[in-house]
Amino acid sequence: MKFGVRDKIWITGSTGRLGSTIYRYLDPIDCEIVATDKHEVDITNLKEVATFTERLRPTVIINASGITKRNECQADPDKAYLLNAVGAKNIAIVANRFHAKIVQLSTADVFDGKATSPYKEIDEPRPRTIYGKSKFLGEQFVRDFSDHYFIVRVSRLYSRENGLVEDIISQAKSGEVRVAKDRFSSPTPAFELSKFLIGLINTNNFGTYHASCGGVCSQKEFAQEIIDFLGLDAKIKEENDPSRVDFSPFYGGIDNYFLKITKDYEFLEWKLALHEYIKKEGLNG
Ligand SMILES: NC(=O)c1ccc[n+]([C@@H]2O[C@H](COP(=O)([O-])OP(=O)(O)OC[C@H]3O[C@@H](n4cnc5c(N)ncnc54)[C@H](OP(=O)(O)O)[C@@H]3O)[C@@H](O)[C@H]2O)c1
Repeated sequence: MKFGVRDKIWITGSTGRLGSTIYRYLDPIDCEIVATDKHEVDITNLKEVATFTERLRPTVIINASGITKRNECQADPDKAYLLNAVGAKNIAIVANRFHAKIVQLSTADVFDGKATSPYKEIDEPRPRTIYGKSKFLGEQFVRDFSDHYFIVRVSRLYSRENGLVEDIISQAKSGEVRVAKDRFSSPTPAFELSKFLIGLINTNNFGTYHASCGGVCSQKEFAQEIIDFLGLDAKIKEENDPSRVDFSPFYGGIDNYFLKITKDYEFLEWKLALHEYIKKEGLNG
């Protein structure tokens, strides 16, 4: 995917797990990429965001910042709403002022997690946690304050940066893998998401998208697939997820409904994407 030499992409939260993968994925020859984190630009400070944007004049802003730990959001709602909602609003305001496209990363946690089949864009959000509520408010602010937005909801991401697969392999080698029980998602390599985003920002197909690999699995099934693919000998122990604020089952599988009906983009099925990731990262050696 080619950008013009005058394209300037600003990534916020660029040292985070997703921001750093997107940064690594983008080809710096095609466009100018400017990566900042909270020490360079605090997105909760509108004045700071506006001054930076006026100087940079980005054509695209990818907002990969956020507070993502559910228990931290629950313990400090003010912080969660300030960053996940007001921060997104600040980015949306300046994006609109300087005619930049905005990519706002969101999450399956905007839904109630009670479904039995993957959530589509047409399903009604009903977040249960402060994390989900703050992310949903961030989405609404982006819709209200900007004209050229892509809101991209993703399920569970894995990458070299968050080491999710690497950690499961290392546990499996010691004979037992511990995973959270009753957690269902559409696991997606951050690299695959980045690939999709780069294509998307080259278009004017603005709107809200679900963007994850096909299918849904429990964390146990995800770990089992890694164990089987690598021919390891390990047991899996399911336990309550300490990062969750309640232990009731959470179904976070999502369906890329609009991408499917428009045939605009097809993600790999989660098992195939996982095999590809393991091979690409050399984890099968
Ligand atoms: N990872 C997933 O599975 C997943 C799934 C669905 C959606 N998402 C969404 O994707 C986005 C990125 O997630 P992630 O997993 O990459 O999170 P992450 O690793 O926690 O990265 C978030 C980044 O935002 C930075 N940040 C914090 N406060 C800031 C501020 N005031 N101004 C600017 N930057 C600030 C953080 O810096 P510090 O670390 O220094 O605080 C960090 O580098 C989030 O919006 C999240 O909701 C992620």
